[in-house]
Amino acid sequence: MVLVATTWRLASRRQSLPCPVWLRWLVELDNPFTKTNRAAFVVETLALSPGMTVLDAGCGPGRVTIPLANSVGPAGRVVALDIQPGMLARAKTRTEAAGHTNVEFVAAALGDDKLPAHYFDRAVLVTVLGEIPDRAGALAELFSALKPAGILAIVELIFDPHFQSRGTVTGLAMATGFRERAFFGHSLAYVIHFEKPDGD
Ligand SMILES: C[S@@+](CC[C@H](N)C(=O)[O-])C[C@H]1O[C@@H](n2cnc3c(N)ncnc32)[C@H](O)[C@@H]1O
Repeated sequence: MVLVATTWRLASRRQSLPCPVWLRWLVELDNPFTKTNRAAFVVETLALSPGMTVLDAGCGPGRVTIPLANSVGPAGRVVALDIQPGMLARAKTRTEAAGHTNVEFVAAALGDDKLPAHYFDRAVLVTVLGEIPDRAGALAELFSALKPAGILAIVELIFDPHFQSRGTVTGLAMATGFRERAFFGHSLAYVIHFEKPDGD
């Protein structure tokens, strides 16, 4: 596992590469080392209610998608978006096996402006930001897609080859127009909530 992670980290220094589909098993482990990145913890911080609409941007194999779908219930909706069809196929299989029918799968790159405006109550970006070449463009699309007062949760973990520091993430988010609302964890493994100000 260490060899795979090191090789991927070195390759990622040259360019922003999406996590390869064959490595999805590593993502599905739900990180045994720190709770901050665990799907249950990330979802718990969001205080979701039944009926909410949530975007799982860069959903990968559906690790976070399934607890999100569970929390918003049948009256709610989760949109699971990923740039790689192989990741979406795995997420769809797992979501269906878990019995959820409230998830829509979208094959698209964040930053391509495929998302509806003012639509989501919450959005999550879990260890994805560093894989996106145009990070400012991606955050601008998330800002537009959220309803006013909507919350974006960005999760970063030092074990991820594309780890982004708190300063980098906060700087990008503030430049987009977000306001920081909450911080969980520490500098090497954290969840930050950013709010789209009401009125935008
Ligand atoms: C490390 S995985 C994390 C998956 C999931 N968020 C999780 O934590 O379990 C990163 C995912 O982001 C996706 N991704 C990378 N760049 C993307 C982009 N521009 N738009 C959408 N998804 C992207 C990759 O295909 C990959 O599935």
